[in-house]
Amino acid sequence: MRDFWSSIMLTSGRYHGNPVAAHRRLAGLTPELFERWLSLFAETCGELFDAALTASFMDKAKRIATSLQIALFYRPEHDCPRSAP
Ligand code: HEM
Repeated sequence: MRDFWSSIMLTSGRYHGNPVAAHRRLAGLTPELFERWLSLFAETCGELFDAALTASFMDKAKRIATSLQIALFYRPEHDCPRSAP
């Protein structure tokens, strides 16, 4: 996790994992839980960092949460049915 945030915030290149695969293994993960995750993450950042750094972490966290959710939950065949011929 340290390597991940180091790579995101400092572009250190230390993280070589696959977050989508790691989260795909989790049973019971729902889009609603991502809202809860972001709110807990914001609370923790607020305890650790000043407002500017918290905003910077949250900007990254929200973007990654969105792309994780697209990778995990978006199913074009369900969400965008082909129009009738
Ligand atoms: C509902 C939201 C989330 C839940 C419940 C959750 C839970 C977990 C759990 C249980 C693991 C360990 C998986 C394993 O080792 O098999 C994990 C790994 C990880 N999570 Fe999340 N996560 C959530 C959202 C996020 C978000 C939004 C981020 C990034 C901003 C994130 C970043 C990571 C990373 C980097 C790992 C390590 C992956 C690896 O092993 O390479 N997670 N998460």
